[in-house]
Amino acid sequence: MSSMASRAVRQRAIAEMFKDVERRWGNLDRLLRPDLRVERSAALSTQSLRRLFALETLALVIPNFVQRPEPLADAIQQAGETARNWSVTSARGMESSDVKAVGGTPYNMCVASGDTERYFVEDVPNAKKWVRSLPGGDALDRLRCDLDDAWPGGCSAKKDDAGRAHHVGLGRVMAGPTQWSQGFVHVDELAPMSPSKGHFSANLYLKLPSEGGHLELWPLQFENRWEFYTNAHTLSKLVSIDEDAQRELRARLPPPIVLEVAPGDLVMLSVQRPHAVQGWTSGDSRASLQSFVNFAGDDAALTLEA
Ligand SMILES: [Fe+2]
Repeated sequence: MSSMASRAVRQRAIAEMFKDVERRWGNLDRLLRPDLRVERSAALSTQSLRRLFALETLALVIPNFVQRPEPLADAIQQAGETARNWSVTSARGMESSDVKAVGGTPYNMCVASGDTERYFVEDVPNAKKWVRSLPGGDALDRLRCDLDDAWPGGCSAKKDDAGRAHHVGLGRVMAGPTQWSQGFVHVDELAPMSPSKGHFSANLYLKLPSEGGHLELWPLQFENRWEFYTNAHTLSKLVSIDEDAQRELRARLPPPIVLEVAPGDLVMLSVQRPHAVQGWTSGDSRASLQSFVNFAGDDAALTLEA
């Protein structure tokens, strides 16, 4: 038997085992926290960030964080018309393939194409310059600055071993009609959740389609290995771009909590909980600036990447 064939056999056997484990011991309902709420706050504060990172809230919304989102949305959308389409199945930025990164190249894309040097030397400084040149293009700088002020340990760009900064945010454009009519349920990082470390996103919403485009959130929490492995058969579908997997997930999960977003909103959430962007059938576009926030404990600095 060739090694590839034997690997396929082994993977099927593992998949069957997890299916069996879940049938015997799995219980997704027990992982639901129906009491979790979306918190709205006029500004970023230490306390609201603590509640978010400790997994006590489902999302944190700062309305009107970007005061005039329209010109910024238009500029990003315009740039999106020439940007390359991409889909990423790595642990960061799990999205459907109708999402475009605008203004720079996501790190994992550069790594995949052996372009890591160019990423740090050209892509990051160029992207920063470009966003700042746009009307309202100080939005990412303000995000970083406000997080730095609100968080006791401060906030900076994620750095590599040589001290070189990553992107702190990139534009995202999603053009309708979307590939997934119901929206693509996923996690960006599949790992047991912890109140002392985790991965979050910070999205600045700039433009929404006339219908759809809102966030769907599932108040799921799996904190230990037992909860994780006994439900791994279903949970692993959260990192798979597959129509059957999506159908099965929607069938297994309760109806989502819909978070209606408005242009200008900053929304922060755990990317380790299932979430989706509602799909839409019109030709409208959705534009945002997206950043990932790494939380490493109450006294540690937050780091941003995109
Ligand atoms: Fe996501």
